[in-house]
Amino acid sequence: MIFSRKIPLYEFFPKEFVDIHSHLLPGIDDGAKSMEESLDLIQGLIQMGFTRLITTPHIYGSVWPNTPEIIRSKAILLQEEIQSRKLPVSLSFAAEYMLDEKFMQYLDTSSLLTIKNKYVLIEFPNFQAPLQLHEILFRLNSMGYEPILAHPERYTYFENVINNIEELKEIGCLFQLNLLSLAKHYGTNVYETAIKLLKAGVIDFVGTDVHRKYHLDTLKKITSKKHLKLLETPFKNNFNLW
Ligand SMILES: [Fe+2]
Repeated sequence: MIFSRKIPLYEFFPKEFVDIHSHLLPGIDDGAKSMEESLDLIQGLIQMGFTRLITTPHIYGSVWPNTPEIIRSKAILLQEEIQSRKLPVSLSFAAEYMLDEKFMQYLDTSSLLTIKNKYVLIEFPNFQAPLQLHEILFRLNSMGYEPILAHPERYTYFENVINNIEELKEIGCLFQLNLLSLAKHYGTNVYETAIKLLKAGVIDFVGTDVHRKYHLDTLKKITSKKHLKLLETPFKNNFNLW
């Protein structure tokens, strides 16, 4: 009997694929805890075929009170280590902003860390969408930013996910799906929502959201069969964010 091999998705990552969501900087959020761990994660990503990484530490009120300066200085240290080890990868940085009251203050007082000049990666609290969501999105747009909502498939309070997303799309929000969702890392419901969103064509980008080694092992389990075709557009769009 001939067994067909389940080819993992990562074998099909496009050349120079850009990962736009991860937590690789050492010791500043719930991602890598040390420089050693940062480098281990990066080696793992390289083995999976990634050559361009835009890492996005949390900026989250008093939970992860990072600033652009803290993030920049950690990124420079990590870039130096990458260079001295001659690792075949380019590392850039932005942030994953929690839309809380603090975020409004950042908007008033300083410029935001962006992916490719204007894209701002944002996330929502786990229990409910931000109260002033429309106002915040409107302000971001009027300031020339383009918001990208991270992992919309994970917000279980979106009762009708597609309608909610269509509505946010109309006011200028873009959407990034977590590849980990396709490995059922967050459960079956999130997986099913992820597939539904991909089929509906509302996902603009994808990201790994890697925090730790376990996530790399999980990413390797995603098979190409069902997913590759669905990811065609986001894979292309990601490429343009470098
Ligand atoms: Fe994240």
